[in-house]
Amino acid sequence: MLRNDQLAEWDRENFFHASTHLAQFARGELANRVITGGTGCHIEDRDGVRLLDAFAGLYCVNVGYGREDIAEAIAKQSKELAYYHAYVGHGTEASITLAKMVLDRAPANMSKVYFGLSGSDANETNIKLIWYYNNILGRPEKKKIISRWRGYHGSGLMTGSLTGLELFHKKFDLPLAQVVHTEAPYYFRRDDLDQSETQFVAHCVAELEALIAREGADTIAAFIGEPVLGTGGIVPPPEGYWPAIQAVLKKHDILLVTDEVVTGFGRLGSMFGGDHYGIEADLITIAKGLTSAYAPLSGSIVSDRMWKVLEQGTDENGPIGHGWTYSAHPIGAAAGVANLKLLDELDLIANNRDTGAYLNRAMRDALGDHPHVGEVRGEGMLCAVEFVKDRSDRTFFDAGDKIGPQIAAALAADGVIGRAMPQGDILGFAPPFCLTRTEADEVVRKTAKAVHSVLG
Ligand SMILES: Cc1ncc(COP(=O)(O)O)c(C=O)c1O
Repeated sequence: MLRNDQLAEWDRENFFHASTHLAQFARGELANRVITGGTGCHIEDRDGVRLLDAFAGLYCVNVGYGREDIAEAIAKQSKELAYYHAYVGHGTEASITLAKMVLDRAPANMSKVYFGLSGSDANETNIKLIWYYNNILGRPEKKKIISRWRGYHGSGLMTGSLTGLELFHKKFDLPLAQVVHTEAPYYFRRDDLDQSETQFVAHCVAELEALIAREGADTIAAFIGEPVLGTGGIVPPPEGYWPAIQAVLKKHDILLVTDEVVTGFGRLGSMFGGDHYGIEADLITIAKGLTSAYAPLSGSIVSDRMWKVLEQGTDENGPIGHGWTYSAHPIGAAAGVANLKLLDELDLIANNRDTGAYLNRAMRDALGDHPHVGEVRGEGMLCAVEFVKDRSDRTFFDAGDKIGPQIAAALAADGVIGRAMPQGDILGFAPPFCLTRTEADEVVRKTAKAVHSVLG
């Protein structure tokens, strides 16, 4: 085995890390942490430090680390058939079986699933399908996509544009012109503190209506949103938000994409966020929880309504010009089949309802009254604590104070991983679905300790 310092040197010299302050890392101001193993909710690094990973990697290792069933399915698939493509009607037992399993779990109006590799590429696929759909229907002007500020939909050119976070636009010349953003359903951060939740929903609807009127409904193809805002701050929607938004979209014949990369396959305590909030989507984006990240695989689930038009399109234009070499990769598909089986066998979605609610309650009890905690919120196995400078008038700390990152660092030093969300001082938790109450207690106890150590 290489000595740690040798590996650390190679790391700084050769490895371009995602979402990292490159200069600080190169200068050694940012630690490199090499992760070597994981079991259940815990990971271990090369120095033998064991951490409770209360963010499940990037909210993706949903069934937990070290699952033999999935590892064996991957090994078996790679020995029997490591690869074959999905072009021109080809498939593998794993990819066909997984498609059936996904559709069996999806809402009744869904027809087919296209498999990609990442949440970003699945959303790219979605936008192409939407444009294709409107071209086939003879509506070439109806192409713009509405996304929400603070939405997260990936970091490609189109998907980075859909993402409504400053960091992902700044200096990248994004967003692209076809994307327009509307109000985030973020009640805690509403401008008018006197607004009730109902009034705030009416305000979000009015903002959406005004945007549609400004742009012209005949130029707008689709609206994309996460059932619960994820990377933008872990924000469940205010009561009644989704039915009200969906009514506006229906009125203007605007398609709805629910990005269920985080919420799909159980995180909220329901199979999909759409089931949870009564949303009927035209396209559903899935990734992370599809394989619990044991192998990269994503998907675009396509509704009957859209599928019929896609078929018509290929009759008129020939095969659909969309595919990746690794679409429906059999190793990812085998991981997906084993993962979804495990999700059922261990009844993990029920645990999200039970232990997720316990975690949220305990976090609220521990921190809800702290003078610098503005809100503790969550749904299912998602929880967030938002920090404020002053609770009485809901003022926020300066971004430069780095309160969220400081608390996340103190927590990690004490053996628990939470995530400082990128915009605002928000500490997020999205543990693996196998979290126990004892582990939830540890997360809460150490979070309270970290908060007190930074904020008093
Ligand atoms: C809701 C949502 N959509 C899309 C993505 C992008 O997925 P990926 O990072 O796999 O490209 C993410 C990633 O966190 C996400 O949270």
